[in-house]
Amino acid sequence: MSIIINKSPDVLSSEITPKSVYLDRRKFMQQSIAASLLLSADAMLPAWAKNTAKWQSLQKSPLSTSDTVNSLEDITSYNNFYEFGTGKEDPHKNATAFNPHPWSITVEGECSKTGVYDLEDFIKPDALEERIYRLRCVEGWSMVIPWVGFSLADMLKKFEPNSKAKYVEFTTLLDKSRMPGQQRRVLHWPYVEGLRIDEAMNELPIMALGLYGDVLPNQNGAPIRLVVPWKYGFKSIKSIVKIRFSETQPVTTWNRTAPAEYGFYSNVNPTVDHPRWSQKKERVIGQPFWKPKRETQMFNGYSDQVAHLYRGMDLRENF
Ligand code: MTE
Repeated sequence: MSIIINKSPDVLSSEITPKSVYLDRRKFMQQSIAASLLLSADAMLPAWAKNTAKWQSLQKSPLSTSDTVNSLEDITSYNNFYEFGTGKEDPHKNATAFNPHPWSITVEGECSKTGVYDLEDFIKPDALEERIYRLRCVEGWSMVIPWVGFSLADMLKKFEPNSKAKYVEFTTLLDKSRMPGQQRRVLHWPYVEGLRIDEAMNELPIMALGLYGDVLPNQNGAPIRLVVPWKYGFKSIKSIVKIRFSETQPVTTWNRTAPAEYGFYSNVNPTVDHPRWSQKKERVIGQPFWKPKRETQMFNGYSDQVAHLYRGMDLRENF
């Protein structure tokens, strides 16, 4: 697993980044600013995180589900974010002091535009939209979340991945002082996830910056996280600080921790049981206990958009 060097929030990226990488980044910024979907002078507004009034009138994505959305309370008080504790209510309680600003993302590996990018470089308000997706957790529950985000594929293309970029790896911040759950060795830290490049370039995955028309609450992965709606929730990594294009399949946290239970692909698949429980049904968070469980759908309902990605693969073997 790669090692990341944490950056103090007070240190300028120009001070800690190798000069060549930093200059490269400046060049990229200058060249692409006019044409870029994600980069714009507007995006450099320092108060973006507080200026979300315009997020209320976001474009509604046609890729959204029409299922009933969960309440903000459900979405922000029943979480998995082991960096803030292993209990469902821990992230809500333990992440309040976490300050996700300033934030930068390092881009590495098989692409032309490697470098360290400030979060503002990723944000162009016009590219943001609301996408409502059901998050199906591997533990057998689900909820429906109105995310605010933008296309992962559009973002990745800006970095110009080369022909060796067969996979994309994502890494969460490693900082025991700011993420107290990392003081316990419950997982291999930092949390790492990955996608095959064609999965990442599909139209469905988004990078989310918010939900319910506002910035992401800390417990949901502030300031930026992945959302991959046809895979179990653990693929949707939170608080991302690194993106790496690689030729080989990334070593992901859950696959490394329990390879017999959590595969690299982790597609929602009701016909492949978890070794310790069935995946045929799911408990819908927020529904009264007496309501029947929901039948889990293949690829979480997105077969039309993603089944072709796995043609010829045995999804029992590649679970
Ligand atoms: N990302 C990090 N860094 N750490 C985590 O513990 N948990 C995953 C995923 N992303 C996790 C993570 C799991 S198991 C799930 S189900 C979803 O986040 C939950 O997202 P939510 O809390 O926003 O609903």
